[in-house]
Amino acid sequence: MIPINKPILDNEEKEAVMKVLESGVLTDPSMNGGPFVREFERELAKFVGVGEAVVVNSGTSALQVALMALNIGPGDEVIIPSFTFAATAGAVMLVGARPIFVDIDLKTYNMIPEEFKKAITEKTKAVIPVDLYGLPAEMDEIKEIAENHGIVVIEDACQSQGAKYKGKMAGGLGDIGCFSFYPGKVMTTGEGGAILTNDEKLAEKMRMIRTHGQIRGYDSTLLGGNFRMNEISAAIGIVQLKKLPKFLEIRAKNAKILLELLENSKIILPEVPEYSVHNWYLFTIRLRGQKEREGLKTKLRESGFGATVYYPSPIHKLPYYASIGYGGLSLKNSEIASQTVLSIPVHPLVKEEDLKRMAEIILSSSN
Ligand SMILES: Cc1ncc(COP(=O)(O)O)c(C=O)c1O
Repeated sequence: MIPINKPILDNEEKEAVMKVLESGVLTDPSMNGGPFVREFERELAKFVGVGEAVVVNSGTSALQVALMALNIGPGDEVIIPSFTFAATAGAVMLVGARPIFVDIDLKTYNMIPEEFKKAITEKTKAVIPVDLYGLPAEMDEIKEIAENHGIVVIEDACQSQGAKYKGKMAGGLGDIGCFSFYPGKVMTTGEGGAILTNDEKLAEKMRMIRTHGQIRGYDSTLLGGNFRMNEISAAIGIVQLKKLPKFLEIRAKNAKILLELLENSKIILPEVPEYSVHNWYLFTIRLRGQKEREGLKTKLRESGFGATVYYPSPIHKLPYYASIGYGGLSLKNSEIASQTVLSIPVHPLVKEEDLKRMAEIILSSSN
């Protein structure tokens, strides 16, 4: 089976891990972290074009630490799209705030700025637009609305490392950006995440929060936790970040081939606004209905292609969120998307013949 995504690791990552093992320093609980953590942070900040990167142990932690640093908690509301991975909402719940779900645009699968505007109340403290599948959200409009209402923009860029919006790197588009380095992403550290910002003071606070609110050890001045990235993960991350442009080049080439092969099919193809650069973390098509989607998914999987649905339910309909009162909410586009989308592999290990075979299967089952 060609999986939907797969980490690409070779000797360079092995050597980096060996260096950490030989150093004997596997993690560093001080506020600024160990040498590999610090180097990874410098390289990430440079890559995104922001002043500060703070690495943590997951994308979920990145979102949670960002919310904690902004003092967002009980009584506060955070607006997010419902059609995303559960972690976006989970981070809001974990700090005791209330997620307010809004609908997405069916062309981009990203939050509709106007729906964000309509959901604002005096309790709204932040908005978390998600760059779903690796396509940046409509940031200019979102930022303008947020600025007018004194709302902080936290970009959930967990899927969009290397994508661009009007010439700017994803992760650096809001007041704060969050990355995930889970192994299925376009680059990995095993588990890991990063928070990006130009606000030096906020970055310092986030570095404290990731290690129990400490500055010099055992002096907790803030509420924090253990959100630290270990040195092994950071060492892998430094190598992966160097390779990322090449990985993304191959993804873009594969996506282009698929778009050409499927040009005349009846399925709905991913659309990229001319001012955006997709990172092709996921190549997501849409079918007429759930039955067609399930039929094509089965055919692709039987032929060895790991077609996968991201996501089979919008968050507000997930059992937990339905059980706490969100179940009756109706967000039409999010519900349509969850019933009709299907992602197919375009990662760097997918060969041209695989793309041709997938296109043949799609064309024969949808035309
Ligand atoms: C949109 C989105 N937000 C948040 C996360 C959370 O990242 P992690 O799995 O590293 O905690 C992910 C990744 O899985 C994601 O895709």
